[in-house]
Amino acid sequence: HHKTLVFDATILQHQSDIPPQFIWPIHERPRANPPELHVPLIDLGDFLSGNPTATERASQLVGEACRKHGFFLVGNHGVSTDLISHAHHHMDRFFEQPLHEKQRALRKIGELCGYASSFTGRFSSKLPWKETLSFQYSAQEDSSHIVEEYFKRTLGEDFAHSGKVYQDYCSAMSKLSLGIMELLGMSLGVRPDHFKQFFEENESIMRLNYYPPCQKPDQTLGTGPHCDPTSLTILHQDTVGGLQVFVDDEWRSISPNLDAFVVNIGDTFMALSNGRYKSCLHRAVVNNESPRKSLAFFLCPKKDKVVRPPHELVDCNNPRKYPDFRWPTLLEFTQKHYRADMNTLHTFS
Ligand code: SIN
Ligand code: FE2
Repeated sequence: HHKTLVFDATILQHQSDIPPQFIWPIHERPRANPPELHVPLIDLGDFLSGNPTATERASQLVGEACRKHGFFLVGNHGVSTDLISHAHHHMDRFFEQPLHEKQRALRKIGELCGYASSFTGRFSSKLPWKETLSFQYSAQEDSSHIVEEYFKRTLGEDFAHSGKVYQDYCSAMSKLSLGIMELLGMSLGVRPDHFKQFFEENESIMRLNYYPPCQKPDQTLGTGPHCDPTSLTILHQDTVGGLQVFVDDEWRSISPNLDAFVVNIGDTFMALSNGRYKSCLHRAVVNNESPRKSLAFFLCPKKDKVVRPPHELVDCNNPRKYPDFRWPTLLEFTQKHYRADMNTLHTFS
């Protein structure tokens, strides 16, 4: 028990001498002043209001970004700024507690949900400099309080309000994701509502990432390089910065923008698009000054949906790239191959 305590990143944040498990091999360490990745900022307001010129432009920009690296920003997204700042505030409230309080939600090995410090369920010699709290969301009618109930069950009445905030935040993400699916459908030249059927009753995962400062930020990583196995990730990062994407053989950063969400394609949508759209390698770096927070909504299809691309995207020049699968099978595979984390290598090909 004591070991977990002394190795925890929050507790180590002021030490210049950090345990060797946190030191990454030289070729994987972050470099100072990485170049910026310029990703399009899609104005969803224009698109949602149905302006045909704006819609055409948005779908073209999304298509270009997704064929290249799968990352873009959405602004004017209709999610209340108050809700976003409450979601950040309740993260502080949770992560600033003493470790033993956070451990009431401790994630067990092999499980997807709960609180994880750097060491939880990780057996690799390269540890991420972060703490996370993950929980399940469901857009199904009979699960409309699943997030609230999770918070109350694991953390008690004191966190009932936090649970309500994250319930609302997840609902907003779920709704937003359906709009993004429409845009993705148009950009691929398939019926705009085609992809919605997979996600109207999505059973998704929400993860709160808390990266404490680190006295050796040039030798550590907050989140190691990985591709998301999920369908889409909708990320909100605070003003600190740290997200990097591997494009054209180098790591490039995506600058923070409080008014926008970072959207990226995961392996499951890559399969739904028959490989047209990329699920790209990314990571998060840390710094020696301020803690960093990010909120990740991992959109997943309803469990019983068969992931298969629409016929418009399959022909003799573009044969099927991936076999049919259901999301739980892919999830199980990625967990087996890469710990109790959402991190994964490319799971196909
Ligand atoms: C992740 O991709 O898992 C984390 C990204 C971030 O914190 O910016
Ligand atoms: Fe990720």
